[in-house]
Amino acid sequence: MKSNIPTIAIAALAAPLLINAITPEGMLAAPRRGVAQANPSADFAIYTNTNYSFEDQEATTVWQQIDLKSGAFSTWSTDSNITEVVFVGPTNTSILYINSTNEAGDGGISLYTADATRLSDAKLAASLPAPFSGLKAVATTSGDIHFLLNTLAYPNGTAYNEELAETPASTARIYTDIYVRHWDTYLTPQRYAVFGGTLKRGNGTYSLAGELTNYVTGKCNATCAESPVQPFGGSGDYDISPDGSQVLYLTKNIDLPLANFTSSQIYWVPFSGGVNDSIPINPIGATPGAEGASASPTFSKDGSKIAYFQMNGIYYESDRNIIYVANADPNNLNVMRVAGDWDRSPDVLAWSNDGSVLYVAAPDLGRERVFPVPVDAAADYKPRNITNEGLPAGMQVLANGQVLISDSKIWSSRDIYTVNSEGNVTNVYFQANLVDEELAGLGPEDVSEFYFSSNSTEIDLQSWIIYPANFSADKTYPLAFLVHGGPQGAFYNSWSTRWNYKVWADQGYVVIAPNPTASTGWGQNLTDAVAAHWGDYPYWDLVYAWDYVNENLPYVDTSRGISAGASFGGYMNNWFQGHEMGRRFKALVTHDGVTNSLADYATEELWFINHDEGGIFTSPNETSTYYRWNPILFYENWATPHFVVHNDLDYRLPVSEGIMLFNMLQVKGVPSKFLNFPDENHWVLNRENSRVWHREIFKWINYYSGLSNATSPY
Ligand SMILES: *[C@@H]1O[C@H](CO)[C@@H](O)[C@H](O)[C@H]1NC(C)=O
Ligand SMILES: *[C@@H]1O[C@H](CO)[C@@H](O)[C@H](O)[C@H]1NC(C)=O
Ligand SMILES: *[C@@H]1O[C@H](CO)[C@@H](O)[C@H](O)[C@H]1NC(C)=O
Ligand SMILES: *[C@@H]1O[C@H](CO)[C@@H](O)[C@H](O)[C@H]1NC(C)=O
Ligand SMILES: *[C@@H]1O[C@H](CO)[C@@H](O)[C@H](O)[C@H]1NC(C)=O
Ligand SMILES: *[C@@H]1O[C@H](CO)[C@@H](O)[C@H](O)[C@H]1NC(C)=O
Ligand SMILES: *[C@@H]1O[C@H](CO)[C@@H](O)[C@H](O)[C@H]1NC(C)=O
Ligand SMILES: *[C@@H]1O[C@H](CO)[C@@H](O)[C@H](O)[C@H]1NC(C)=O
Ligand SMILES: *[C@@H]1O[C@H](CO)[C@@H](O)[C@H](O)[C@H]1NC(C)=O
Ligand SMILES: *[C@@H]1O[C@H](CO)[C@@H](O)[C@H](O)[C@H]1NC(C)=O
Ligand SMILES: *[C@@H]1O[C@H](CO)[C@@H](O)[C@H](O)[C@H]1NC(C)=O
Ligand SMILES: *[C@@H]1O[C@H](CO)[C@@H](O)[C@H](O)[C@H]1NC(C)=O
Repeated sequence: MKSNIPTIAIAALAAPLLINAITPEGMLAAPRRGVAQANPSADFAIYTNTNYSFEDQEATTVWQQIDLKSGAFSTWSTDSNITEVVFVGPTNTSILYINSTNEAGDGGISLYTADATRLSDAKLAASLPAPFSGLKAVATTSGDIHFLLNTLAYPNGTAYNEELAETPASTARIYTDIYVRHWDTYLTPQRYAVFGGTLKRGNGTYSLAGELTNYVTGKCNATCAESPVQPFGGSGDYDISPDGSQVLYLTKNIDLPLANFTSSQIYWVPFSGGVNDSIPINPIGATPGAEGASASPTFSKDGSKIAYFQMNGIYYESDRNIIYVANADPNNLNVMRVAGDWDRSPDVLAWSNDGSVLYVAAPDLGRERVFPVPVDAAADYKPRNITNEGLPAGMQVLANGQVLISDSKIWSSRDIYTVNSEGNVTNVYFQANLVDEELAGLGPEDVSEFYFSSNSTEIDLQSWIIYPANFSADKTYPLAFLVHGGPQGAFYNSWSTRWNYKVWADQGYVVIAPNPTASTGWGQNLTDAVAAHWGDYPYWDLVYAWDYVNENLPYVDTSRGISAGASFGGYMNNWFQGHEMGRRFKALVTHDGVTNSLADYATEELWFINHDEGGIFTSPNETSTYYRWNPILFYENWATPHFVVHNDLDYRLPVSEGIMLFNMLQVKGVPSKFLNFPDENHWVLNRENSRVWHREIFKWINYYSGLSNATSPY
């Protein structure tokens, strides 16, 4: 199989010469690619490719096509109005796509049918008066198309369009219950809902038959359900059966206060039904133990079965996802746990063509690996991985049974390849590091890992090492020590446009990215152990990681080290500041972290803090973890230069945490700097903002680590 490696890249790889470092600008401008989506016969796949120009301050998206037989690449469409495509039949090239505009220009969208090989003949099928997204669609036996979409809806169930909505005279928001805001949005009476519609087949054209059906909201006179679950839910929260007759969607459990529980249920509803015909398939009590968040309801390819994940913990967002399979028949569900004791938490799911196997992806030892699991696997079944490095953004089981994977790695923003059920890689179609000039020279040799022991856990803990460009083990490099967020989460072998290890390393550091207690991928016990232990287990693990580096990696100059982290990683840097670890670094960086744990109830996700602090906020005396692991208790020790980032739209950890940290540092005379974005949430997403984020942080750490000649950190 030919791969798409331009000769210039091969020449660059062969040359023993200096490799260019990847800069923040290069990383931010480099192409960002979507997930490859193959047509039913797997002759070709399409994906989006977005470039950014700092000169024009503009992003442009085109669709690329890979010929899956020859490996050849071409441009499929340069029309950025095409935002989503579904292969819908009747032929292997028949598509339905979303055009993000419509003729009315009212903020709504339109649906077009086309042949993927003759886009210019696309035909308008429906014009919809709201900004719907998340298209799923199938052809029915009668030749019609049944589709699902989602958007915000009024309490009466009608789709909401901000552009057409009336602006009230006052901006007041009034609440009588918790759950005032979430992520970066204040809650309004509008809720997301899944809508279904039928496109009737005419003579070569399709037209919308009747009104759309809202399966989730409207007609509900108490608290309405919401699907997809915000802020991260999308079309993975619902599905349509292959014959178009049945719909699944998941919503949070509306009988529980939404701010302090994660429990969610999956509903089954006939396509021709409505909100009142929805039947929960996994209500609390139906399956022993299963009370927590559900995910990924997915019909098998013959429509006879449903697979999904569910956690046990009713308010624990990082409990283990367990695989369930049920009959797609609400009168005879026969829900079965699949490989129920497997000590991994899968979060991506795809059915094999014959329905005998589920392909799932799960965090595993610092990677997200793909595992085939037989649908009838017993509790003690131990799945074996068929992929190794990387973190999949998506996977699709092809007509020939192979799995098409789109993933990323520390050294590549997108790889596209196929693997068979035995784990043999059958075709490598694309590797961004061999194509993108910004990524030229990046490869697996930039990365290593080590395991170290700590005193808070019996298992050895892992850490990534990321080397700077043109690394030589005979030289020394200052340490950049990163602490991940979550705390339940991990540093994976994956590409990030927010915390890109290699961009940090290429400033001239050896990056150490440890996975301490709380990290996912080493079994649920390690993940669970952090609850009520924010300030001790992971802290000591990080001390042990630092000691390991100091004793075993001669090329790392720990005397010129810096530490940085976001969210829980920001909390940990604030905790470092008051403890001995703070004295081991020349500078600290906190991005959107907790400063005062007694203010934890200013968050929107009470379920999270109730779980992680080991109980709800009662009396904050000295035995309470809210009190005990509070970074400000150790204010008297604060001394290390500290860079603080906090954004206004961060409702998870409100901006007052960052301002308090900065104020306290300033009052104490500790060198410090505060960076704020009024238009960013817990993350910095805008590329121009991210460029400033990198520039300011790197100016700070490079000054204190001695990497720059600057005469001031400011
Ligand atoms: C997208 O559609 C709008 C009309 O709604 C049009 O003005 C614009 O040129 C289209 N963009 C492209 C890339 O064709
Ligand atoms: C998208 O919709 C606009 C407005 O109706 C139309 O002008 C344009 O041709 C459509 N483009 C595609 C690719 O469907
Ligand atoms: C639902 O409510 C909205 C906003 O009040 C209104 O514009 C719309 O007409 C209502 N829909 C129905 C079917 O009553
Ligand atoms: C269908 O449309 C084609 C041209 O678009 C026309 O030749 C044909 O007669 C039409 N058939 C019917 C049944 O209307
Ligand atoms: C909601 O509907 C039920 C049954 O349709 C009715 O008994 C109840 O009074 C309604 N509640 C409100 C608040 O309208
Ligand atoms: C959940 O929220 C309600 C208020 O809506 C509160 O009364 C209750 O104590 C909370 N429960 C838990 C377990 O946090
Ligand atoms: C499965 O994971 C192991 C590490 O646990 C790795 O060495 C192996 O290569 C992986 N298998 C495949 C088929 O990728
Ligand atoms: C996978 O690779 C192994 C080792 O090369 C080979 O023995 C086996 O036959 C391959 N399996 C398939 C299904 O290609
Ligand atoms: C780990 O070692 C540190 C330093 O001696 C100590 O303070 C801490 O309590 C130890 N942790 C455990 C779980 O024993
Ligand atoms: C997890 O912890 C429990 C309780 O301490 C223990 O019984 C169990 O064996 C542990 N599981 C693993 C996989 O280490
Ligand atoms: C101290 O706080 C703990 C945990 O919040 C609580 O269980 C206990 O009752 C409190 N003690 C007093 C004396 O208030
Ligand atoms: C430091 O200054 C020297 C001399 O002006 C210059 O050549 C070098 O590029 C500077 N290094 C950095 C990292 O700014």
